[in-house]
Amino acid sequence: MRAPGKINVYLGVGAQHDDGYHTLATVFQAVSLYEDVYATPSDGFSLEVSGSVDVSDVPTDDRNLALRAAKLLAQTADVTEGVHLDIRKGVPVAGGMGGGSADAAAALVACDALWGTDLGPRGLHDLAVRLGADVPFALHGGTAVGTGRGDLLTPALARGRFDWVLVLSDQGLSTPAIYGRLDELRIHGDALADDATAVLEVPVALLQALRAGNAGELAPVMMNDLESAAVLDRPDLERALADGVQRGALAGLVSGSGPTIAFLCAGPEAARAVQEEMRATGREALHVHGPVPGARLLV
Ligand code: C5P
Repeated sequence: MRAPGKINVYLGVGAQHDDGYHTLATVFQAVSLYEDVYATPSDGFSLEVSGSVDVSDVPTDDRNLALRAAKLLAQTADVTEGVHLDIRKGVPVAGGMGGGSADAAAALVACDALWGTDLGPRGLHDLAVRLGADVPFALHGGTAVGTGRGDLLTPALARGRFDWVLVLSDQGLSTPAIYGRLDELRIHGDALADDATAVLEVPVALLQALRAGNAGELAPVMMNDLESAAVLDRPDLERALADGVQRGALAGLVSGSGPTIAFLCAGPEAARAVQEEMRATGREALHVHGPVPGARLLV
């Protein structure tokens, strides 16, 4: 199974609730950076992880979301068999692109096929919601508006393709820590952070730009409330954001909780040029496009 990483083209963060989660108004776009998960029958549950990105920080025990996904499905559907999961990662670890969520989505679909549990889209979606806020989107892919914790999805129309240059970081960021930092900024009335009580809504102009397939119109309305918190932790990101725009990107934003930066470009050629220029500054840069489908069969 193959499942994509994502960019949050828009990420409005509201108040925190008793369960620790924040209310979101977000727009996800699945991009052509993938997690491949191979599932083979086994007596127990086991996992190996490799990939084109640094995988040294990926847990292979029960903290791993893909393993938890397989076990949750087995438990829910009364399956007595096990599975061996072989994960090949292409999405940066702790990069704000939902790589772990993509693993979980791929593991759900893979085990559902392997065990013949046939839960269907609704059943798999319900399990995805229990695994994490970003897992349902990794199942569905494409472009979608997410509300609630980000798990209430409405597909968004997006014409054509959008070209992105991703600038990766060596060091990951912790998602809960970045949400916590944003809460602190807001409590202290820091001018960097937007007001949590502001209306949480995806701007109509952003949805129109997606529908029109118009990168030039999308660029000025992209926004991420978590960016101020991520930049506070990692001041180098601010420099990278400015560098990308100076080198021809239409706009850049921190992806999710970061530290990956996504630069929107006018088209494939412009993206290749920005990628080259960012590489020339010594940074790791990838050219991807979106939207792409959610978790699906690879072979
Ligand atoms: O659901 P997931 O495991 O991806 O979320 C990771 C963490 O991100 C949560 O534990 C929470 O701290 C934060 N989060 C949040 N509000 C959301 C989504 C995630 O506070 N809507």
